[in-house]
Amino acid sequence: MTGSLLEIERLSVSFGGLRVLDDIDLKLAPGDRLGLVGESGSGKSTLGLAILGLLVDTASVSGTIRFAGAALPIGDDRAMSAIRGGRIGFVYQDPMGGFSPIHTVGRHMHHAIAAAEPDISRRAARERAAALLAEVEIRDSAARLDDYPHQFSGGMLQRIMIASALAGNPQLLIADEPTTALDATTQANVLRLLDRIASARGMAVILITHDLGVVGRFCGDLAVLYCGNLVSLTTVARAMANPVHPYTRGLLDARPRLDEKPARLRTIGGVLPRAGAAGGGCAFEPRCALGRGVAICRNERPLLLANRSGDRVACHLAGAESEVAASC
Ligand SMILES: Nc1ncnc2c1ncn2[C@@H]1O[C@H](COP(=O)(O)OP(=O)(O)OP(=O)(O)O)[C@@H](O)[C@H]1O
Ligand SMILES: [Mg+2]
Repeated sequence: MTGSLLEIERLSVSFGGLRVLDDIDLKLAPGDRLGLVGESGSGKSTLGLAILGLLVDTASVSGTIRFAGAALPIGDDRAMSAIRGGRIGFVYQDPMGGFSPIHTVGRHMHHAIAAAEPDISRRAARERAAALLAEVEIRDSAARLDDYPHQFSGGMLQRIMIASALAGNPQLLIADEPTTALDATTQANVLRLLDRIASARGMAVILITHDLGVVGRFCGDLAVLYCGNLVSLTTVARAMANPVHPYTRGLLDARPRLDEKPARLRTIGGVLPRAGAAGGGCAFEPRCALGRGVAICRNERPLLLANRSGDRVACHLAGAESEVAASC
């Protein structure tokens, strides 16, 4: 997480005056694998869409996003769509929803390839499409270009969506809940495939998910969003061994476990506050086992500070020590 591929500084996003992302600072180096987690509504997809320049026109965005050394032309849709189809790829949750049922997979792939390389010939595009399908382990890839989406399983369609995201040889892939709609075995296969492809291509990945098990298997780093704030940025190994932020600890404790049978599943009490509704203190304070009712937590918003391990934590009680800037 040392930066140079993606550098996000003070990114804030509001919808209709409600701030749903608040001063996000985040860096990614080439080949990094970052898991982005948080409860529903915490702002994960908004962050992914902001990087892709895909937020709706009504979103008000401030801050900067630099990619491969240059500021992303966020307001310039034409310039952004070239980057999106090219150096930044995108995979989202619902493979069925990503394909028009009346077009063949080959046509979908052609569209993605031509977006990244407008002058490519039909023949070269078809060869490239077949190679990309083979890369995501679709058998008889050339012949299957003529099939329609309904002729593929959900797992295969998700792999084809990954293939189309690879059309522009992206340096960064943003995958928003890519395996949520899939059964456990198919999910494992898609993750294994993504793992192999990301390693072979040296491609950085931001994996947005609710599933900390998926993060544990796939990612090196973990960013935790709460109510539009980045509250923890650490390695997955350290987060799993010793989660410093009480919210991260709560998310880990709430994971269903096969190796123990508690009387009931653990949850984090309370609910996520509405976007923009948190007061001046820590947004997590009302739900926090450590800080509920503690004056500083209730009244002062914690900054994202670096601790001795180099992790960054926004918590008054988690032993954060130095300014965030020192660790970047
Ligand atoms: N187009 C929009 N207009 C208004 N509010 C929006 C819009 N998109 C997102 N929001 C709000 O922004 C907040 C963050 O939403 P977002 O979809 O980023 O959350 P998320 O963490 O991805 O949730 P989930 O896990 O359910 O996908 C929510 O309060 C949501 O209602
Ligand atoms: Mg989302």
